Amino acid sequence: MAEESRLTLSVIKADIGGFVGHVSSHPDILDTAKDKLNHAKENGTIVDFHVLRCGDDLELILTHTKGCDNTEIHELAWNVFSVCTEVAKELKLYGAGQDILSDAFSGNIKGMGPGVAEMEFVERKSEPVVIFMADKTSPGAWNLPIYRIFADPFNTAGLIIDPKMCDGFSFRVLDVKEGRCITLSCPEEMHYLLALIGTSSRYIISSVYRKTDGEIAAVMSTQKLSFIAGKYVGKDDPVAVIRCQSGFPAVGEVMEPFSFPHLVEGWMRGSHSGPLMPVPFYEANPTRFDGPPRVISAGFQISNGRLIGPHDMFDDPSFDSTRRIANDISEYMRRHGPFQPHRLPEEELEYTTLPLVLEKLKDRFQKV
Ligand code: F6R
Ligand code: MG
Ligand code: MG
Repeated sequence: MAEESRLTLSVIKADIGGFVGHVSSHPDILDTAKDKLNHAKENGTIVDFHVLRCGDDLELILTHTKGCDNTEIHELAWNVFSVCTEVAKELKLYGAGQDILSDAFSGNIKGMGPGVAEMEFVERKSEPVVIFMADKTSPGAWNLPIYRIFADPFNTAGLIIDPKMCDGFSFRVLDVKEGRCITLSCPEEMHYLLALIGTSSRYIISSVYRKTDGEIAAVMSTQKLSFIAGKYVGKDDPVAVIRCQSGFPAVGEVMEPFSFPHLVEGWMRGSHSGPLMPVPFYEANPTRFDGPPRVISAGFQISNGRLIGPHDMFDDPSFDSTRRIANDISEYMRRHGPFQPHRLPEEELEYTTLPLVLEKLKDRFQKV
């Protein structure tokens, strides 16, 4: 790859079957995905790849030179998920093909079930990136940490200290309910931004740009399966990609907000509020009440498109107390059982099977 050419980093994920239940992925699935992507690397479709999993989600991390929303790359990911679904069916893994909502690929994987976060950039002299992958939650889970990384000087010292960051960042926010978006600039429009993204089930930060030069800083997957399918078909467990250092937040500034296990939507049946627990790769197995929600983080140095890594970023005792607090919060929330705010409000459960339950009572209500 020529030094000045543009590189695309695509993270594409899907739940194509759980082991056991919705807890984890089977090693055969990961091996199948690696095998298929190895072919794609050999024939030059992609420059490099890495396969990971978070809970029951299969995460494909790809580098290539074809740009965002590229049909060939999306079709490759689609084919990987399809072949893995066949393996999942053979093993009768749970919910085989759960996120594959369509029978045939139709040009762009977005809107077909899988989650996508892609960015294109000219690789810097050194290009550190951190990828976050979560299970048993939804894309709004990134709002709080992304806000703190790119707009809160109490988190990110670089906003005060680094001249490239002092002007701040702009945030593209998607209204997933109305299918529209808005770009807001921080620090000037910080209050407007917060007025929206505090409603994290509806307004979701989808990308972040550095204001001094418009460089892409972060992208998040914003697929909401519930809206895509018109009915609840699984959780839209999200991914996020963040560029670090030299005019972007330092790696440590990117990791810092995850030391607070904030409450996110998801957990059991995608219907509960619970703390986001940062864990090393091998602990991304949400077994307690199908949770609590997990996030893993893979750090890479990119070298001419090669993914040097991953480094398992949450495999660090400095997150031990976060995990302990997350367990304490889990305990506290669980004691509420089916009561709000542990259980999500009714409008958030519109796409679950709850309406079918309420339907049974419909004729027994009397006017008062
Ligand atoms: C949450 C999740 C699980 C399932 C639950 C019930 O995102 O995937 O909590 O919702 O295990 O699953 P089903 O309805 O497949 O029995
Ligand atoms: Mg699943
Ligand atoms: Mg999942």
